Amino acid sequence: MSTRTPIVGGNWKMNTTAETGVALARAVAAGSGGVACEVVVYPPFPYLATVGGTLAGSDVQLGAQDLYHEPNGAFTGEVSVEMLRDVGVTVVLAGHSERRHVIGETDDLVNRKVRAALAGDLMVTLCLGETLEQREAGRTTDVVLGQLRHGLAGVAEAAMGRVVLAYEPVWAIGTGVTATPDDAETAHRAIRGALADLYNPQVAAATRIQYGGSVKPGNAAALAAGPNVDGFLVGGASLVPDDFLAITRMATAPDPAADRQPEARNA
Ligand code: PGA
Repeated sequence: MSTRTPIVGGNWKMNTTAETGVALARAVAAGSGGVACEVVVYPPFPYLATVGGTLAGSDVQLGAQDLYHEPNGAFTGEVSVEMLRDVGVTVVLAGHSERRHVIGETDDLVNRKVRAALAGDLMVTLCLGETLEQREAGRTTDVVLGQLRHGLAGVAEAAMGRVVLAYEPVWAIGTGVTATPDDAETAHRAIRGALADLYNPQVAAATRIQYGGSVKPGNAAALAAGPNVDGFLVGGASLVPDDFLAITRMATAPDPAADRQPEARNA
């Protein structure tokens, strides 16, 4: 049985106001006491400090949706690791598919961000995922493992304890189409196998791999039953406190109907 603690993130994306963000954070903090997974919320930049204040005293971690890898200087509109730490951020996303595909971030930029976050003692969630076109061309594994290798280039084994991976097939994000538990488990198993090659079996067994893409209370338990699925990165449903909280509870409770055993492949 895996000893990895599942981690569930709520990626609010470009949603909420100061008022609705605080209300959402308050509801998540109040409702997540006692859940057996780590919980992170990722508010928009302008609300980080305020939401951080709301979360103070709770176990919910404050996450940022992005960062810039340079420490300071003439980078209009960008936000450094030090600024994030200054407002209480402990974890940051890198390479979210919307950054890659809407904003145009390259694997190289994502890698710089991952290394900057780790150098600044943040935890980083590196997002990976193939587009529908890539999946239909049979390139899912190549694409995802390519993003993994690029994203982790130059990351030392000692830093891997602060890396979380998120497998988020692009075709499942915000579309209402979810990967099947088998699709998710297959990709997660391939990612874990690649970690064993890149590092060693211990790192592979210890690294958390979240699934993301239209996760809802109705599908979370079946997805969580995959032995290599260690929680979720949730977009739309993270804006609805009851849904998000239900998902945090399901992340640690494999579906009793699932016929798979929760064993880590590389344990
Ligand atoms: P979704 O977003 O849950 O709305 O599909 C997931 C994500 O982008 O992290």
